[in-house]
Amino acid sequence: MDELRKKYFEACADEWDKSFTAEDYEILSFLIDSFNISKKAKIADLGCGTGIMFDMLRRKVGSDGMIVGVDFSGRMVKKARQNFPFDNVYEVDGDVEDLPLQSGSFDMAISFAAFAHFTNQKKVMEEASRILKQGGKFHIIHLSGSKELVEFHQQVGGPVAQDHLPADADMMKLFEHGHFLDVKIQDHPGLYLASATKG
Ligand SMILES: C[S@@+](CC[C@H](N)C(=O)[O-])C[C@H]1O[C@@H](n2cnc3c(N)ncnc32)[C@H](O)[C@@H]1O
Repeated sequence: MDELRKKYFEACADEWDKSFTAEDYEILSFLIDSFNISKKAKIADLGCGTGIMFDMLRRKVGSDGMIVGVDFSGRMVKKARQNFPFDNVYEVDGDVEDLPLQSGSFDMAISFAAFAHFTNQKKVMEEASRILKQGGKFHIIHLSGSKELVEFHQQVGGPVAQDHLPADADMMKLFEHGHFLDVKIQDHPGLYLASATKG
């Protein structure tokens, strides 16, 4: 586990919710609509922070579905619990590189604004694949293109200064390593979206 990065995000937790604009919510909501999430689905939110996606996802899966958010910042997890105290939304304090979740038990995994921060992205890909059912989807979202993200993280500095997304060919290899099929990557200013299906 990357203690420096973890400390950095712990320190961001109290003010984190203020960093989202109405436009961010609108784009995120549009993307989530496009994922065709079915009622009763079980979804894992990898690097969930304070749970910005929880309410949108909860409405999609309905009362028989389930959302499990995982984050290694205890403070982020605590805030997520306070923000979304719903029966079918669970917040887990854990490392996405070693998910404390059952194999083959999720219909979808989503990582929003987080994948670039994962130290061992190959391990996260393996873990996402492990927890998904066959045919399950994995979506990696950032609301900036990969180039903008590099510049942004350099400006932010500190432990996240070098955080970045893999180049397309490397992301393809990561998905292949996780036995994902039908990989699609969009990378342009304002959006990075990589999606694939577990084979
Ligand atoms: C930029 S924040 C995004 C949080 C949330 N998805 C959102 O958009 O509000 C990245 C999150 O990833 C979490 N994170 C980074 N590496 C992690 C790891 N190895 N395991 C679990 N969480 C991790 C951080 O604690 C942080 O909450």
